[in-house]
Amino acid sequence: DWTSEQFIDATVADLQQQLGDDKVVLGLSGGVDSSVAAMLIHQAIGKNLYCIFVDNGLLRKNEFEQVLDSYKHMGLNVKGVDAKDKFYTALAGISDPEQKRKAIGRVFIEVFDEESHKIEDVKWLAQGTIYPDVIESMSVKGPSATIKSHHNVGGLPDFMKLKVVEPLKTLFKDEVRLVGRALKIDDAILGRHPFPGPGLAIRILGEVTPEKVNILQQVDHIFINNMKKDKLYDEVWQAGAILTPLQSVGVMGDERTYENVVALRAVTSIDGMTADWSRLPYEFLADVSNEIINKVKGVNRVVYDISSKPPATIEWE
Ligand code: XMP
Repeated sequence: DWTSEQFIDATVADLQQQLGDDKVVLGLSGGVDSSVAAMLIHQAIGKNLYCIFVDNGLLRKNEFEQVLDSYKHMGLNVKGVDAKDKFYTALAGISDPEQKRKAIGRVFIEVFDEESHKIEDVKWLAQGTIYPDVIESMSVKGPSATIKSHHNVGGLPDFMKLKVVEPLKTLFKDEVRLVGRALKIDDAILGRHPFPGPGLAIRILGEVTPEKVNILQQVDHIFINNMKKDKLYDEVWQAGAILTPLQSVGVMGDERTYENVVALRAVTSIDGMTADWSRLPYEFLADVSNEIINKVKGVNRVVYDISSKPPATIEWE
């Protein structure tokens, strides 16, 4: 029988054997997989694990600071890198979803590579690849790295001639969570909804600007906070808000407004491959909608996405 304790003991021993005194670099995303991979390797080699957490300016409100804090609490040797402007610059003028993904992937690799070159004599690249990722990448494009599939770039760049270590490669998501729990990782990280690598960029339809990111962060924050407050957060697989390029007429006092429409999306799912829209309570939706329109400047209409996957996807881009 598989137990997380046995897995941890065996994996830590293997990692110590494999890595010896070598230095390892790992990109943290704030998600479950990279966090659990980091804690496992940290148990094995301590400070020789160098974690990099990039602020791409496309994360949820306050997420970079909060997650960085949790990582430091966990004892990880982690460097937070503010690369917001690089990402915004690369995204300027781009509206096509795939082009946005490419630009984000490219900048991420640039930033990550620059940072990893600062670690003298680093030998390994660690990744939080899990079993379903392995299967997915084998069927589509040969076994390769999570950085690739998550950021949709054409594979690891040649100049990163690092050996790859992937301690979660045999695990399913629920097993990763059990291992994370046994490693005493914060529930706030373990229970987190999936969040796409390109972040809010693919929830802002059309061109991404810092101003739009700011509006969407506020909207998303109200939605997600209320879900947590009303104990709905753990009931759904994933939730978030979308900033549409539409403007609609509204009234505010005696004034006519002409402002943005935002959409809320919440889905139930087992694995993200198929999904159904969550039947969130009407009262909850009413409260969230009021709060968004009252508090977020630039938004005067909220709609709820009632499409299932397929034929719709979870994200709008
Ligand atoms: P879709 O929109 O295809 O999303 O139904 C399924 C799951 O994948 C996530 N997603 C992404 N994750 N990079 C990622 O790391 C991406 O480009 C990307 N696109 C979608 C999405 O959030 C959902 O969990």
